[in-house]
Amino acid sequence: MQEFSFCCPTEIVFGRGTEERTAELLKKYGAHRVFVIYGGGSVVRSGLLARVERVITANGLAFRVMGGVQPNPRLSLAREAIREAISFEADFILAVGGGSVIDTAKAVAHGTANPQTDIWEFWEGKAKLKKSLPIGVVLTLPAAGSETSDSAVLTNEEAGKKGGLHTPLNQPAFAILNPELAFTLSSPQLAAGIADIIMHTLERYMTHVDGNELTDRIAETLLSNVVKYAPVVLAHHKDYEAMSEIMWSGTLSHCGLTGLGRPKDFSVHKLGHALSARYDTNHGESLTALWASWARAVYEERPERFARYAEKVWDVDAGSPEERARAGIRKTEEFFRSLKLPVSLGELPSGVLDKAALKALADNVTDGGKKTVGSFRPVDKALALQIYEAANH
Ligand code: NZQ
Ligand code: ZN
Repeated sequence: MQEFSFCCPTEIVFGRGTEERTAELLKKYGAHRVFVIYGGGSVVRSGLLARVERVITANGLAFRVMGGVQPNPRLSLAREAIREAISFEADFILAVGGGSVIDTAKAVAHGTANPQTDIWEFWEGKAKLKKSLPIGVVLTLPAAGSETSDSAVLTNEEAGKKGGLHTPLNQPAFAILNPELAFTLSSPQLAAGIADIIMHTLERYMTHVDGNELTDRIAETLLSNVVKYAPVVLAHHKDYEAMSEIMWSGTLSHCGLTGLGRPKDFSVHKLGHALSARYDTNHGESLTALWASWARAVYEERPERFARYAEKVWDVDAGSPEERARAGIRKTEEFFRSLKLPVSLGELPSGVLDKAALKALADNVTDGGKKTVGSFRPVDKALALQIYEAANH
C-alpha cells in the first residue's frame, strides 16, 4: 500500500428524524450563537428550517438566519453573510441545505474568524487560512459531499472564476444525514447529484499509482452501489432504503476514502467549473456533459485502468484492454443518458458553443495556458480545447 494520511473528523448522525438532534450537536461542539444559512427556499417550503429553529430555540441557543444562497454559490453573498455573522457575533455556522449552502457556510466561518482578510484571498492562495469557526450541516441533497469534504467551492462573479479552497478547516464538526430530507428533490437535481457522487470517486480512481487494492475495491463497490440504486431512487424518490444508499455513498465518495495513497485527478471538475463560471451550468450536469470526452482523450495513457473500471463496475470482461476501456466509457455515458443527464455541451441550456467561447473556456481552466489541471494526463490549454471541442455537439 502507498503512504497516506486520512482524517475525517466529522461526526455523522444518520437516520430518520435526526435533525431533531441539531441543538444537542451544536452544544456538544461549543455553539452559543449560531448563524444559520440556507438556500433559495426549499427548506422553508418543506418545513425543515422551522423544525431546526424550533429545536435550537427550545435549547436556549441564540441564532440568526440568512437565506438566499443560489447554486454555484456567489462570493458576493458569502461576503454579505460574513458581515451579518460578524455583527451577530456568531461562534458557530450551521448550513441547512445542499453543497452550495454548505460551501457558503464554510466561507462564512472563515470570514467571520478572520475579519481583517477578504475571503477570496484564501481562495486565491494569497492569504493562508489558520483559523475558522466550527461548522455544522443538516444535509438536504446527496451530491457534493461537502458535508465531510475539506473543500469549499465559490464563484467569484466579478472575476468570472469558480474555484475551490482546500483545507482541513473546511471539515464540518458534524453532519446530520436524514435521507427523508431529500425526498422533495426534483428528478433532474437528484440525477445531477448522483452523477456528482460517481464523479467524486471516478476522479480519484483514474490513476497511475497501484498498490491500494482495498481503496480500489471500496471505490468500485461505491460506484456499483450508486449505479444500482440510482434508477430505484429516481423512480421512487420516497424509497427510504434507496435514498439512504445514495446519501451515504455521496458522503463517503468525497471524504477522501476512495482515493487514499494517490493524487486526485479532478480535471473534469475543473473543466466543468469553467462552464459553470461562464454559463451558471448545474454542477453535476457540467460533469456528465464533459466526462466521456475527457475519458476518450486520456484513456490511452493507461487503458488497463479504464478496463478494470469497465470490468468491476459494468461487467465488461471481453476484448483487449483498449476495447474494454472504450466499452466502460460507453456504458458510463449510456448510464448518464438513462438518468436523463446531458452527455454533450449541446444538451446543456447554453447549447452548442462557438469557437471563441470554447477557447475562452480553455483559457479559464488553465489560466490562459499558464497551468495544467489533473494528474492522470495533465490537461493543458490545447487538451482542454480538444475536450471541449469533442463535447461540443
Ligand atoms: O436553494 P434551495 O431552494 O434549497 O434549492 C436547491 C438548489 O436549487 C435544491 N435543493 C437542495 N435540497 C433540496 C432541494 N430542492 C428540493 N428539496 C431538497 N431537499 O437543489 C438545488 C441545488 O442545490 P446545490 O446546493 O447547489 O446542489 P449541490 O449539493 O449539488 O451543490 C453544488 C455545489 O457544490 C459544489 C459545486 O461546484 C456546486 O457549486 N461542490 C462542492 C464540493 C465540496 N465543497 O466539496 C465538491 C463538489 O465537487 C462540488 O464542486
Ligand atoms: Zn463535484
